[in-house]
Amino acid sequence: MKRILTGLKPSGELTLGSLIGGIKQSIKYQNEYESFMFVPDLHAITVPQDAKILKERIKKNVALYIACGIDPKKNIIYIQSENLYHTNLSWILECNTYMGEASRMTQFKDKSSKGENVSVGLFTYPILMASDILLYDADYVPTGIDQKQHVELCRDLATRFNNKYGYTFKLPEPMIPETGAKIMDLQDPSKKMSKSEENPKGVILLLDDEKAIRKKIMSAVTDSDTKVYYDPENKPGISNLITIYASLKEINIKEVEKEFINSNYGTFKKAVADLVVEKLTDIQNKYNKLINSKEIDDILDKGRDITNKIAREKYEEVVKKVGLGR
Ligand code: TRP
Repeated sequence: MKRILTGLKPSGELTLGSLIGGIKQSIKYQNEYESFMFVPDLHAITVPQDAKILKERIKKNVALYIACGIDPKKNIIYIQSENLYHTNLSWILECNTYMGEASRMTQFKDKSSKGENVSVGLFTYPILMASDILLYDADYVPTGIDQKQHVELCRDLATRFNNKYGYTFKLPEPMIPETGAKIMDLQDPSKKMSKSEENPKGVILLLDDEKAIRKKIMSAVTDSDTKVYYDPENKPGISNLITIYASLKEINIKEVEKEFINSNYGTFKKAVADLVVEKLTDIQNKYNKLINSKEIDDILDKGRDITNKIAREKYEEVVKKVGLGR
Protein backbone atom coordinates (compact mmCIF):
# COMPACT_ATOMS: atom_id res chain seq x y z
CA MET A 1 0.00 0.00 0.00
CA LYS A 2 1.35 3.44 -0.91
CA ARG A 3 1.98 5.83 1.93
CA ILE A 4 0.64 9.38 2.20
CA LEU A 5 1.76 11.94 4.71
CA THR A 6 0.28 15.29 5.47
CA GLY A 7 0.64 18.03 8.04
CA LEU A 8 -2.25 20.04 9.43
CA LYS A 9 -0.86 23.29 10.74
CA PRO A 10 -2.58 24.38 13.97
CA SER A 11 -2.55 28.03 12.97
CA GLY A 12 -6.28 28.65 13.16
CA GLU A 13 -9.73 27.34 13.98
CA LEU A 14 -11.18 24.73 11.65
CA THR A 15 -14.06 25.92 9.48
CA LEU A 16 -16.77 24.47 7.29
CA GLY A 17 -14.34 25.23 4.44
CA SER A 18 -11.67 23.05 6.06
CA LEU A 19 -14.18 20.21 6.34
CA ILE A 20 -15.50 20.36 2.78
CA GLY A 21 -12.28 21.45 1.09
CA GLY A 22 -9.74 19.32 2.94
CA ILE A 23 -10.86 16.92 5.63
CA LYS A 24 -13.36 15.18 3.36
CA GLN A 25 -10.54 14.41 0.91
CA SER A 26 -8.45 12.89 3.68
CA ILE A 27 -11.36 10.72 4.74
CA LYS A 28 -11.40 9.31 1.22
CA TYR A 29 -7.64 8.77 1.14
CA GLN A 30 -7.59 6.85 4.42
CA ASN A 31 -9.19 3.89 2.69
CA GLU A 32 -6.76 3.88 -0.22
CA TYR A 33 -3.42 4.63 1.42
CA GLU A 34 -1.44 4.09 4.53
CA SER A 35 -1.93 7.53 6.09
CA PHE A 36 0.32 9.57 8.29
CA MET A 37 -1.27 12.74 9.66
CA PHE A 38 0.57 14.99 11.98
CA VAL A 39 0.28 18.38 13.61
CA PRO A 40 3.30 20.51 12.59
CA ASP A 41 3.27 22.60 15.72
CA LEU A 42 6.92 23.55 15.20
CA HIS A 43 5.91 25.11 11.92
CA ALA A 44 3.20 27.14 13.65
CA ILE A 45 5.75 29.03 15.76
CA THR A 46 7.60 30.41 12.74
CA VAL A 47 5.18 33.30 13.29
CA PRO A 48 4.21 34.60 16.75
CA GLN A 49 1.72 32.43 18.67
CA ASP A 50 0.08 32.73 22.06
CA ALA A 51 1.35 29.72 24.03
CA LYS A 52 -1.93 28.92 25.76
CA ILE A 53 -4.03 29.19 22.62
CA LEU A 54 -1.55 27.14 20.61
CA LYS A 55 -1.52 24.31 23.12
CA GLU A 56 -5.29 24.17 23.27
CA ARG A 57 -5.65 24.28 19.54
CA ILE A 58 -3.29 21.38 18.86
CA LYS A 59 -5.47 18.96 20.75
CA LYS A 60 -8.71 20.63 19.72
CA ASN A 61 -7.87 20.24 16.05
CA VAL A 62 -6.88 16.60 16.46
CA ALA A 63 -10.19 15.91 18.24
CA LEU A 64 -12.08 17.74 15.50
CA TYR A 65 -10.38 15.81 12.71
CA ILE A 66 -11.37 12.57 14.37
CA ALA A 67 -14.90 13.83 15.05
CA CYS A 68 -15.21 14.67 11.34
CA GLY A 69 -14.36 11.11 10.36
CA ILE A 70 -10.59 10.78 10.29
CA ASP A 71 -10.31 7.26 11.64
CA PRO A 72 -7.52 6.78 14.18
CA LYS A 73 -7.42 3.11 13.22
CA LYS A 74 -6.61 3.98 9.63
CA ASN A 75 -4.31 6.95 10.30
CA ILE A 76 -1.18 7.36 12.32
CA ILE A 77 -1.80 10.64 14.13
CA TYR A 78 1.04 12.41 15.92
CA ILE A 79 2.48 15.73 16.99
CA GLN A 80 5.67 16.95 15.34
CA SER A 81 7.29 18.40 18.47
CA GLU A 82 6.98 15.04 20.23
CA ASN A 83 9.46 13.56 17.80
CA LEU A 84 12.92 15.09 17.97
CA TYR A 85 14.12 13.40 14.79
CA HIS A 86 12.21 15.95 12.70
CA THR A 87 14.39 18.84 13.84
CA ASN A 88 17.56 16.75 13.93
CA LEU A 89 17.20 15.62 10.34
CA SER A 90 16.19 19.13 9.39
CA TRP A 91 19.57 20.43 10.55
CA ILE A 92 21.43 17.93 8.39
CA LEU A 93 19.27 18.85 5.41
CA GLU A 94 19.87 22.55 6.09
CA CYS A 95 23.57 21.93 5.76
CA ASN A 96 22.85 20.54 2.29
CA THR A 97 20.55 23.36 1.19
CA TYR A 98 21.77 26.43 -0.69
CA MET A 99 20.85 29.92 0.48
CA GLY A 100 19.62 30.65 -3.05
CA GLU A 101 17.08 27.84 -3.23
CA ALA A 102 15.76 28.52 0.27
CA SER A 103 15.44 32.23 -0.55
CA ARG A 104 13.23 31.42 -3.52
CA MET A 105 10.49 29.86 -1.40
CA THR A 106 7.47 32.14 -1.73
CA GLN A 107 6.28 32.16 1.86
CA PHE A 108 9.57 33.66 3.01
CA LYS A 109 9.98 35.81 -0.08
CA ASP A 110 6.53 37.38 0.24
CA LYS A 111 6.85 38.22 3.90
CA SER A 112 10.40 39.48 3.79
CA SER A 113 9.80 41.56 0.65
CA LYS A 114 6.95 43.33 2.46
CA GLY A 115 9.54 44.49 4.95
CA GLU A 116 7.98 42.33 7.66
CA ASN A 117 10.28 41.22 10.42
CA VAL A 118 10.62 37.53 9.63
CA SER A 119 12.26 34.86 11.75
CA VAL A 120 15.08 32.56 10.65
CA GLY A 121 12.58 29.77 11.33
CA LEU A 122 10.33 31.07 8.58
CA PHE A 123 13.31 30.93 6.25
CA THR A 124 14.15 27.31 7.09
CA TYR A 125 10.47 26.27 7.30
CA PRO A 126 10.49 24.33 4.01
CA ILE A 127 13.56 22.36 5.07
CA LEU A 128 11.86 21.19 8.25
CA MET A 129 8.91 20.25 6.07
CA ALA A 130 11.25 18.19 3.86
CA SER A 131 12.47 16.42 6.98
CA ASP A 132 8.86 15.69 8.05
CA ILE A 133 8.32 13.94 4.75
CA LEU A 134 11.64 12.18 4.17
CA LEU A 135 11.78 10.50 7.59
CA TYR A 136 8.84 8.32 6.63
CA ASP A 137 9.45 7.41 2.98
CA ALA A 138 6.14 8.99 1.97
CA ASP A 139 4.99 8.29 -1.59
CA TYR A 140 2.53 11.16 -1.77
CA VAL A 141 2.03 14.42 0.06
CA PRO A 142 -1.53 15.77 -0.19
CA THR A 143 -1.46 19.55 0.19
CA GLY A 144 -2.76 22.75 -1.23
CA ILE A 145 -1.23 24.17 -4.39
CA ASP A 146 0.65 26.73 -2.25
CA GLN A 147 2.73 23.91 -0.76
CA LYS A 148 3.74 22.34 -4.07
CA GLN A 149 6.95 24.34 -4.18
CA HIS A 150 7.95 22.95 -0.79
CA VAL A 151 7.43 19.37 -1.91
CA GLU A 152 9.58 20.12 -4.95
CA LEU A 153 12.34 21.46 -2.73
CA CYS A 154 11.99 18.30 -0.66
CA ARG A 155 12.58 16.19 -3.80
CA ASP A 156 15.62 18.28 -4.72
CA LEU A 157 17.12 17.85 -1.26
CA ALA A 158 16.43 14.12 -1.28
CA THR A 159 18.01 13.73 -4.70
CA ARG A 160 21.08 15.70 -3.65
CA PHE A 161 21.49 13.62 -0.51
CA ASN A 162 20.99 10.34 -2.37
CA ASN A 163 23.60 11.35 -4.96
CA LYS A 164 26.11 12.36 -2.36
CA TYR A 165 25.66 9.58 0.21
CA GLY A 166 23.92 6.76 -1.63
CA TYR A 167 20.21 5.98 -1.83
CA THR A 168 18.53 6.95 1.43
CA PHE A 169 15.33 8.89 0.77
CA LYS A 170 12.29 8.08 -1.31
CA LEU A 171 11.22 10.95 -3.59
CA PRO A 172 7.70 12.04 -2.63
CA GLU A 173 5.16 13.37 -5.08
CA PRO A 174 2.82 16.24 -4.32
CA MET A 175 -0.82 15.26 -4.49
CA ILE A 176 -2.97 18.27 -5.24
CA PRO A 177 -6.69 17.48 -5.10
CA GLU A 178 -8.15 18.40 -8.50
CA THR A 179 -11.65 19.34 -7.54
CA GLY A 180 -11.76 19.61 -3.77
CA ALA A 181 -14.78 21.87 -3.41
CA LYS A 182 -13.70 25.36 -2.49
CA ILE A 183 -15.98 27.06 0.02
CA MET A 184 -16.17 30.83 -0.13
CA ASP A 185 -16.75 33.45 2.54
CA LEU A 186 -20.49 33.95 3.19
CA GLN A 187 -20.15 37.74 3.29
CA ASP A 188 -17.68 38.06 0.41
CA PRO A 189 -18.03 35.08 -1.91
CA SER A 190 -15.10 36.28 -4.02
CA LYS A 191 -12.67 35.04 -1.39
CA LYS A 192 -12.08 31.74 0.31
CA MET A 193 -13.71 31.00 3.67
CA SER A 194 -10.70 31.44 5.88
CA LYS A 195 -10.07 30.74 9.52
CA SER A 196 -7.89 33.82 9.79
CA GLU A 197 -10.64 36.15 8.52
CA GLU A 198 -11.30 39.10 10.84
CA ASN A 199 -14.98 39.29 9.92
CA PRO A 200 -16.43 36.17 11.57
CA LYS A 201 -19.86 36.65 9.98
CA GLY A 202 -18.72 35.10 6.74
CA VAL A 203 -17.01 32.11 8.32
CA ILE A 204 -18.64 29.08 9.92
CA LEU A 205 -16.42 27.44 12.51
CA LEU A 206 -16.89 23.74 13.11
CA LEU A 207 -17.57 24.53 16.76
CA ASP A 208 -20.07 27.36 16.15
CA ASP A 209 -23.37 26.87 17.97
CA GLU A 210 -26.67 26.38 16.20
CA LYS A 211 -27.79 29.96 16.60
CA ALA A 212 -24.60 31.34 15.09
CA ILE A 213 -24.68 28.88 12.19
CA ARG A 214 -28.28 29.76 11.31
CA LYS A 215 -27.64 33.47 11.56
CA LYS A 216 -24.56 33.34 9.33
CA ILE A 217 -26.27 31.28 6.64
CA MET A 218 -29.54 33.24 6.68
CA SER A 219 -27.58 36.49 6.27
CA ALA A 220 -25.20 35.16 3.60
CA VAL A 221 -24.77 37.61 0.73
CA THR A 222 -26.68 36.59 -2.41
CA ASP A 223 -27.91 38.54 -5.46
CA SER A 224 -31.03 40.29 -6.71
CA ASP A 225 -32.23 37.34 -8.78
CA THR A 226 -34.72 34.93 -7.17
CA LYS A 227 -33.95 31.55 -8.70
CA VAL A 228 -31.68 28.92 -7.16
CA TYR A 229 -29.19 27.68 -9.75
CA TYR A 230 -25.43 27.30 -10.06
CA ASP A 231 -23.59 30.17 -11.74
CA PRO A 232 -20.46 31.05 -9.79
CA GLU A 233 -19.71 34.03 -12.00
CA ASN A 234 -23.01 35.87 -11.68
CA LYS A 235 -24.39 34.24 -8.55
CA PRO A 236 -21.34 33.55 -6.38
CA GLY A 237 -23.24 33.62 -3.07
CA ILE A 238 -25.99 31.22 -4.10
CA SER A 239 -23.50 29.00 -5.92
CA ASN A 240 -21.42 28.78 -2.75
CA LEU A 241 -24.47 27.69 -0.75
CA ILE A 242 -25.29 25.13 -3.44
CA THR A 243 -21.73 23.74 -3.17
CA ILE A 244 -22.04 23.49 0.60
CA TYR A 245 -25.39 21.71 0.36
CA ALA A 246 -24.27 19.33 -2.39
CA SER A 247 -21.09 18.44 -0.60
CA LEU A 248 -22.62 17.80 2.82
CA LYS A 249 -25.48 15.83 1.33
CA GLU A 250 -23.13 14.02 -1.06
CA ILE A 251 -25.22 14.75 -4.12
CA ASN A 252 -24.30 16.71 -7.23
CA ILE A 253 -25.04 20.30 -8.17
CA LYS A 254 -27.77 19.35 -10.66
CA GLU A 255 -29.64 17.45 -7.99
CA VAL A 256 -29.57 20.48 -5.71
CA GLU A 257 -30.88 22.70 -8.51
CA LYS A 258 -33.70 20.25 -9.11
CA GLU A 259 -34.60 20.02 -5.44
CA PHE A 260 -34.93 23.81 -5.17
CA ILE A 261 -36.31 24.63 -8.60
CA ASN A 262 -39.45 26.19 -7.14
CA SER A 263 -37.92 27.59 -3.96
CA ASN A 264 -37.09 31.15 -3.11
CA TYR A 265 -33.81 32.14 -1.48
CA GLY A 266 -35.29 32.12 2.03
CA THR A 267 -36.49 28.53 1.74
CA PHE A 268 -33.23 27.42 0.19
CA LYS A 269 -31.11 29.11 2.85
CA LYS A 270 -33.21 27.54 5.57
CA ALA A 271 -32.60 24.10 4.07
CA VAL A 272 -28.85 24.77 3.88
CA ALA A 273 -28.85 25.96 7.50
CA ASP A 274 -30.79 22.85 8.64
CA LEU A 275 -28.30 20.57 6.92
CA VAL A 276 -25.20 22.38 8.24
CA VAL A 277 -26.66 22.36 11.76
CA GLU A 278 -27.42 18.65 11.49
CA LYS A 279 -23.90 17.76 10.31
CA LEU A 280 -22.05 20.05 12.69
CA THR A 281 -24.13 19.00 15.70
CA ASP A 282 -23.14 15.43 15.00
CA ILE A 283 -19.46 16.41 14.73
CA GLN A 284 -19.68 18.52 17.90
CA ASN A 285 -21.25 15.67 19.89
CA LYS A 286 -18.37 13.41 18.91
CA TYR A 287 -15.89 16.19 19.62
CA ASN A 288 -17.27 16.83 23.10
CA LYS A 289 -16.91 13.17 23.99
CA LEU A 290 -13.33 13.11 22.76
CA ILE A 291 -11.73 16.36 23.80
CA ASN A 292 -11.21 15.56 27.46
CA SER A 293 -11.04 11.80 27.09
CA LYS A 294 -8.16 9.46 27.64
CA GLU A 295 -8.78 8.14 24.14
CA ILE A 296 -7.30 11.17 22.46
CA ASP A 297 -4.13 10.93 24.52
CA ASP A 298 -3.90 7.24 23.78
CA ILE A 299 -4.14 7.96 20.06
CA LEU A 300 -1.42 10.60 20.23
CA ASP A 301 0.82 8.45 22.45
CA LYS A 302 0.53 5.59 20.03
CA GLY A 303 1.30 7.88 17.10
CA ARG A 304 4.29 9.31 18.92
CA ASP A 305 5.70 5.87 19.71
CA ILE A 306 5.25 4.40 16.23
CA THR A 307 6.67 7.40 14.43
CA ASN A 308 9.63 7.78 16.78
CA LYS A 309 10.59 4.23 15.97
CA ILE A 310 10.34 4.73 12.20
CA ALA A 311 12.08 8.09 12.29
CA ARG A 312 14.88 6.85 14.48
CA GLU A 313 15.80 4.14 12.00
CA LYS A 314 15.96 6.59 9.14
CA TYR A 315 17.84 9.15 11.18
CA GLU A 316 20.46 6.65 12.31
CA GLU A 317 21.04 5.63 8.71
CA VAL A 318 21.57 9.29 7.82
CA VAL A 319 23.90 10.00 10.74
CA LYS A 320 26.03 7.04 9.78
CA LYS A 321 26.25 8.07 6.16
CA VAL A 322 27.11 11.65 7.00
CA GLY A 323 29.85 10.58 9.39
CA LEU A 324 28.48 12.01 12.62
CA GLY A 325 29.04 10.68 16.10
CA ARG A 326 31.35 7.87 17.08
N1 TRP B 1 3.48 23.62 5.40
C1 TRP B 1 2.25 22.90 5.48
C2 TRP B 1 1.09 23.91 5.43
O1 TRP B 1 1.27 25.05 5.72
C3 TRP B 1 2.17 22.08 6.72
C4 TRP B 1 3.21 21.03 6.74
C5 TRP B 1 4.32 20.98 7.51
C6 TRP B 1 3.21 19.86 5.93
N2 TRP B 1 5.02 19.86 7.25
C7 TRP B 1 4.38 19.15 6.28
C8 TRP B 1 2.35 19.38 4.94
C9 TRP B 1 4.71 17.95 5.65
C10 TRP B 1 2.67 18.17 4.33
C11 TRP B 1 3.84 17.48 4.68
O2 TRP B 1 -0.01 23.51 5.14
